[in-house]
Formats: sequence, structure tokens, C-alpha cells
Amino acid sequence: MARAVCSRCHAVRATGTSPMRRAPPFRGLAERFPVDDLADVLNEGVDRRHPAMPDFRLDPDDADDLAAYLKTLKP
Ligand code: HEC
Repeated sequence: MARAVCSRCHAVRATGTSPMRRAPPFRGLAERFPVDDLADVLNEGVDRRHPAMPDFRLDPDDADDLAAYLKTLKP
């Protein structure tokens, strides 16, 4: 599951800090980031958004799943 990959660097739950200090916690991300475009952003713009991150692709189902999850997280 994609979230497990992301959690190496990002705080993916409602509380806690990111394991990697520069990575923004996922809570609140839905309010300042177009999470519906997550797949496009990550698949096409991973180098711009994630200079610190290994290149990976997110399949559309995982991206939808992740976007839905991000919307449930409040800052
Ligand atoms: C190896 C560490 C690492 C992993 C794994 C990682 N990220 Fe990131 N991510 C970062 C860092 C660091 C930033 C901050 C931008 C920067 O300076 O690179 C970031 C930024 C972002 C941003 C941009 C936030 C903004 O406000 O622009 C999004 C969206 C994001 N990550 C989503 C994800 C998703 C979704 C995954 C899992 C599929 C993931 N990241 C996995 C390190 C990581």
C-alpha cells in the first residue's frame, strides 16, 4: 500500500511528526494541495515536488485511495 511507502518520510496519521524532518505531515495536506491530482503530480512531477525522494510511480487505484485518505485527515 502506498501509504506505507510514504510513511518512511511523512507523518501519515492524525498525530505525530514526520520521520524525515523536511517532509510535511500528511494531515492538512488536503487543504493546501490538490490531492485529487496526486497521481499526476507524483507520476509526472516527482522530481520537482520531491527532489529528496526516490523516483516512484503510484498506480491510479493507490492514488485514489490515498487522496480519499488525505481528505479525512484534519490539521
Ligand atoms: C524519501 C522520503 C519521502 C518519501 C518516501 C515520500 N516523500 Fe513526499 N516529500 C518528501 C519531502 C522531503 C518533501 C518536501 C519537499 C522537498 O523539499 O523535497 C515531500 C513533499 C511531498 C508533497 C508536497 C507537499 C506540498 O505542500 O507541496 C506531497 C504531495 C508528497 N510529498 C506526497 C507524498 C506521497 C503521496 C508519498 C508516498 C507515495 C510520499 N510523499 C513519499 C519526502 C518523501
